[in-house]
Amino acid sequence: MKKIITGFALLLLGCVASAQNNNYARAKALVSKMTLEEKVSLLVGRGMKLPGMSNAGNAGNGTGVGQTMDKVEGAAGTTNGISRLAIPLTVVADGPAGLRIEPVRKNDSRTYYATAWPVATLLASTWDTKLVKQVGEAMGNEVKEYGVDVLLGPGLNIHRDPLGGRNFEYYSEDPLVSGKMTAAMVNGIQSNGVGVSIKHFALNNQETNRNTVNTIVSERAMREIYLKGFQIAVKESNPWTVMSSYNKLNGVYTSESYDLLTTILRKEWGFKGLVMTDWFGGKDAVAQMKAGNDLLMPGTPQQTQAILDAVKSGQLDVKIIDENATRMVAYALQTPAAANYKFSNKPNLLAHAAIARAAAAAGMVLLKNEAAALPMSRQVKNIAAFGNTAYDFVSGGTGSGDVNEAYTISLVQGLTNAGYRLDESLKQSYTEYIDEEKRKHPRKSFFEEFMNPTPRAAEMNIAAELFTKMAKESDIALITIGRNAGEGSDRKVENDFNLTEAETALIGNVSHAFHAVGKKVVVVLNVGGVVEVVSWRDKVDAILLAWQPGM
Ligand code: GLC
Repeated sequence: MKKIITGFALLLLGCVASAQNNNYARAKALVSKMTLEEKVSLLVGRGMKLPGMSNAGNAGNGTGVGQTMDKVEGAAGTTNGISRLAIPLTVVADGPAGLRIEPVRKNDSRTYYATAWPVATLLASTWDTKLVKQVGEAMGNEVKEYGVDVLLGPGLNIHRDPLGGRNFEYYSEDPLVSGKMTAAMVNGIQSNGVGVSIKHFALNNQETNRNTVNTIVSERAMREIYLKGFQIAVKESNPWTVMSSYNKLNGVYTSESYDLLTTILRKEWGFKGLVMTDWFGGKDAVAQMKAGNDLLMPGTPQQTQAILDAVKSGQLDVKIIDENATRMVAYALQTPAAANYKFSNKPNLLAHAAIARAAAAAGMVLLKNEAAALPMSRQVKNIAAFGNTAYDFVSGGTGSGDVNEAYTISLVQGLTNAGYRLDESLKQSYTEYIDEEKRKHPRKSFFEEFMNPTPRAAEMNIAAELFTKMAKESDIALITIGRNAGEGSDRKVENDFNLTEAETALIGNVSHAFHAVGKKVVVVLNVGGVVEVVSWRDKVDAILLAWQPGM
């Protein structure tokens, strides 16, 4: 039996490879019919409009902030096509925890919400590649049904800095776990006939100074720790594209590094797909072409001009343009756009929410559980829920890894749905407090939030006598500690890795009051990265690491 399965798998792999080779042959023939301008137009995206920037891109009507408006509103980027040769524009959109596109559009009564999936670190914590593949299959279905060709994920950089701002978007500090989870996710997503962009290749281990930081690393550490996950993913899942990172690697921008993008990725590992830059990544378009970074995203007219000038001056061999353009066309020919796929704009969000719910529970980690505090006994009917994020749950991280989901079920809402009675006075105080905090910091646009993240609200103060009252009236206390972060900056030690004074006081007051009447206290960590627990874990009966479990 095993022999038959192996044979079938080899046959399948052979089919995929030969389809790719056919595409490559067709692409080569098409490129031979192109003008130089047409070839170069394929290698630079259609741009996007950012505050203070002209409408960048070749011909794109890129408007909106931090996103383009070609074909699918809110997508992160669009590539050029060549209609006379039936090469389509293709659409690429973030991100690793689900598709991010504009959910509400002008003069359009429909909505375009996507599923906010559990973040990558939670998925890796399931240790279940079958489940992760299932999440990928559903995620990829939304990519396809909303008219997108490539999802800009998964992210698999190593959690080198425990306070890395994007750790939530990445799987692990371990290369094997990172590679296996990436391969499962990629196979799931691509089973829909859409592509991925595994990112950020490579050694993008911090957000501080991310566009200029020079990662200095030994060959051994690089290969055994930081490249290993990507190598496993390329070998076990055949990703359509790879996204090079912002940083330098031993002095050279990764997007300009022939050693990384051609010698290692292509010649050693056999990667056949396309390499795109991160958005505005790198500095020298000509060096990026020579390195084998085929596509410059989101694309600027200056990059197009620099490449054309370099070919005309003899500084850049047109053979390199032909090679990069052939890979770009081979990529485009396999997209739903090339098949003129009639997408529905109606993925089955209800079914996907059920998969997200199951995956979320599977990835949560019970860090402590004494006196069988969890699961809550049948006697527990009344729950006192403390902590802002018990009511205003953090479904995922910020920046391009965020998702526009239709709703999020908070811990309190979930417990109510499960038939528990929540302390109403507490619920009212927290809800009013959170609404007031939100009024102080109105929701910003994607780009403004990215440039100037809204500070997390301080924990609400609770009058001392209330703790005793609630300990009498409730059967158990749940305290939720929330943390959030995202691209562009790393987290801090003070009031971020370490709890704030208000959080520490909350745990102390609740534990004192509830333990005084023999009732249990559970802490739920709704976080995208690690927090300090040693100073308070002995005060509570159970600690559940819920990560950021999506909607
Ligand atoms: C961002 C991120 C990258 C994302 C891209 C498009 O700066 O670094 O992960 O896919 O730009 O939004």
